[in-house]
This record gives sequence, C-alpha cells and structure tokens, in this order.
Amino acid sequence: MITGHVFIATSLDGFVAGPSGELDWLMKQKTEGEDHGYDAFMDTVDGLVMGRGTFQKVLTFAEWSYAKPVVVMSRTLTNQDIPEAISGKVELTELEPPKVMKMLDERGWRRVYVDGGMVIQSFFRAGLISDMILTRVPVLIGEGIPLFGTLKRDIDFEHLETRSFPSGLVTSRYRTIGAAPEAGEST
Ligand SMILES: NC(=O)c1ccc[n+]([C@@H]2O[C@H](COP(=O)([O-])OP(=O)(O)OC[C@H]3O[C@@H](n4cnc5c(N)ncnc54)[C@H](OP(=O)(O)O)[C@@H]3O)[C@@H](O)[C@H]2O)c1
Repeated sequence: MITGHVFIATSLDGFVAGPSGELDWLMKQKTEGEDHGYDAFMDTVDGLVMGRGTFQKVLTFAEWSYAKPVVVMSRTLTNQDIPEAISGKVELTELEPPKVMKMLDERGWRRVYVDGGMVIQSFFRAGLISDMILTRVPVLIGEGIPLFGTLKRDIDFEHLETRSFPSGLVTSRYRTIGAAPEAGEST
C-alpha cells in the first residue's frame, strides 16, 4: 500500500515560511554538525509530491537538490515552467491527492514524501499521511504560511520520539492514528 510521509520544519508559532515564502528564520539557525534525519528519511521514500508554492521556492535555490523524482501539484503551471536543467526529474499533475497516490501506486511507489503547507493539509484531509517528522525551530515569526489549517474532524497522532539538538531544534516523530478521509474528500 502506498503511504504519504511528512518531514518539515516550522517556527514555534507554526509557520513553514514567512508571508512571502521567506525561509531566513530557518536558514539562520546554527545547525552545523547536527543530523536531523533528513538524509535517512530521504533514503526511505520513492519520490516527492510537492505543491507549486514549494516548487517555485526550490527553483530559487542555487541547485536542484533532489535525487528522487518530484511530482508537482499545480493547476496553473505548464511544462514551460519547468527549467530545462531539471526536465525529466519533475512532473506536473492537476490530479487531487487520492488520484495522485493511485497514479504513483500503479508505478510501484510505496512511500511518498509530501511537501508544502497547503499540499500537506490536503493530504491530511484526504487521510493519506501515515506519519510526520516535525522539526520545531526556536523562533517566533509572527505571520507567514501555516503548516496546519481548518479541519472537519480531529486527526489523532501517536507520539513516537522526540529529539532535541544543541541548536535548539526539536524533532518529533508522530504516527497518524486511524487515517481516513474527511467527509466530502474523494478517495
Ligand atoms: N519549513 C519547511 O520545512 C518548508 C518545507 C516545504 C515548503 N516550505 C515553504 O512553504 C512555502 C509553500 O507552501 P504553500 O503552503 O504556500 O504551498 P504548497 O503546498 O507548496 O503549494 C500550494 C499550491 O499547490 C497547488 N495545488 C494543486 N493541487 C493542490 C491541492 N490539492 N491542495 C493544495 N495545493 C494544491 C496550488 O497551486 P496552483 O495555483 O498552481 O494550482 C497551490 O497554490 C514555500 O515558501 C516553501 O519554501 C517550507
């Protein structure tokens, strides 16, 4: 069975980025020499599904850092928006989360890294996230793009592990209990 997995960092007030996508609050953390488990997590996934917002942010970075295939969810981007240098590594889809997972399942994917605030919320609402590694960064940024939003029902988690680092970053691992789609979400 294919499953969705989250690995993401938020400010203490729950934002994944500033109002215009700023990540300076994250980048300024002094984390040299710390292993927050990103590489180990990446080794476990077949590829990524990310939102258009995250994709456009990643395109501003000096280099493309993903060795695994990336599916970008967007109803507005076209193939012309994918830089030549990464064509073949990125695919666009307009499908909703359950259909994206079905498509990837049929390709043999088993574990999907789901990334981007809005997209993560969509996948949670559709009951498609099995677990989440959440890193809390010791800063309040006051406003920005939230990781979580409104829900029609609670989503419960089992806490598996929390690790803290000298930088002040705190990484917690949670397993979703009884993941199921919200009423009205397609499967
Ligand atoms: N702190 C961290 O660890 C971390 C990690 C990842 C990202 N980020 C930051 O988060 C920001 C982006 O987050 P975001 O919440 O704005 O955007 P996002 O989830 O990355 O992308 C949202 C966009 O995805 C498209 N989309 C297509 N189908 C969707 C669906 N079913 N549900 C939701 N979105 C769908 C829509 O674009 P269209 O209008 O094109 O359809 C939507 O506007 C960036 O600044 C990025 O740097 C931070």
